[in-house]
Amino acid sequence: MTKAENYQLLLPQIEALLAGETDMIAKMANVAAMLHQSFGFWWTGFYRVVGNELVLGPFQGPVACMHISFGRGVCGTAWQRQETVIVPYVHEFAGHIACSSESKSEIVVPVFSSGNVIAVLDIDSAAYNTFDDTDKQYLEQIVRLL
Ligand code: SME
Repeated sequence: MTKAENYQLLLPQIEALLAGETDMIAKMANVAAMLHQSFGFWWTGFYRVVGNELVLGPFQGPVACMHISFGRGVCGTAWQRQETVIVPYVHEFAGHIACSSESKSEIVVPVFSSGNVIAVLDIDSAAYNTFDDTDKQYLEQIVRLL
């Protein structure tokens, strides 16, 4: 199965799972679980915008840092730029926050509500160069379902 096929299978399942649910934490928790199980990522989770920083939200994987400032790391950069950031080699991204030395590549997708970034979806892979435009396209679609 290709990556795109995997996302295409997952999308209606996520849509069905979230239908009628209004609690954002519950929705984030199940989206993280579905993506993590389906793709076998190293770490899959959300950071929520709380005041002027990002605070760890629902996730799957090893323990992670709990607070990230605006503009810091890949997560804070995606928040600041208000766009998805793909990092093929984490050691080449200036300011990358290494929560785990196993993490080799990363994608961070902002979650918008009424035009504002309210959270980011952060996915780490234990392999280099895991994420590309296909991930960006489908993950942006998935976070719009939240
Ligand atoms: N690497 C992220 C920090 C979060 S952990 O990967 C879960 C960053 O640079 O923002």
